[in-house]
Amino acid sequence: MARKLTFNIFRYNPQDPESVPHSDTFYLEEAERMTLYIALTRIMEEQDPSLTFDFCCRAGICGACAMVINGRPGLACKTLTKEQPDEITLMPLPVFKLVGDLSVDTGTWFRAMNEKVESWVHTDKKMDPTVQEERMDNALAEEIYELERCVECGCCVAACGTANMREDFVGAAALNRIARFLMDPRDERSEKEYFEVVGTDEGIFGCMGLLACEDVCPKELPLQDQLGILRRKMGWTAVKQLFRLSA
Ligand code: SF4
Ligand code: SF4
Ligand code: FES
Repeated sequence: MARKLTFNIFRYNPQDPESVPHSDTFYLEEAERMTLYIALTRIMEEQDPSLTFDFCCRAGICGACAMVINGRPGLACKTLTKEQPDEITLMPLPVFKLVGDLSVDTGTWFRAMNEKVESWVHTDKKMDPTVQEERMDNALAEEIYELERCVECGCCVAACGTANMREDFVGAAALNRIARFLMDPRDERSEKEYFEVVGTDEGIFGCMGLLACEDVCPKELPLQDQLGILRRKMGWTAVKQLFRLSA
């Protein structure tokens, strides 16, 4: 017999002065292969058309549907209701600006973060469209691609103690971005230049290393390894700067 699911959903419209943060309860009969995205769509279509939540790809690719599911950040479209208890509590991701109900503005946060850590290849080489692309070693290209799989869903930031406490912390997604550029032979930044970007409390030294970020990352990025490598590299650059060794 199908389970009857209870959904406790956070409701609040920050644009409406009359709106007060509260939780609404909805009931739904569980269906085969039901995801939270399907459940929310059914609640919106059948019970409350004002329910606000984000989605786009419905396949774990765009990162739009991230929310806090029974206390843990995750993607609604990748979460099967059968993996959850009968009662499911859904909250918007913390840290990001609330748009309404379960919808948050991750885009503005990620744009600012990418600018802050200068998330692009730094090179003085001029692009020449007449020459062939430079080749990259396959194994290295794959290593870089592994880190490029981040979909900027914001789950790692929402789960991060430091990001919840301080607004200026760049979060695991940004540190992962820097780790990716450090690997890239086309990026001509020196260790000192990287240090200026992430060798601070807003960067790698603000990270407490408890790794909630890796636990919740829906793309299973190797954040633990990358944060460790970055911490060691930036620590070593700090020592070299202190003793005026070349960096
Ligand atoms: S390991 Fe660092 S980045 Fe990851 S959740 Fe903890 S403090 Fe945040
Ligand atoms: S690192 Fe993982 S959890 Fe963080 S934004 Fe990227 S995909 Fe989402
Ligand atoms: S809707 Fe795109 S990741 Fe869920």
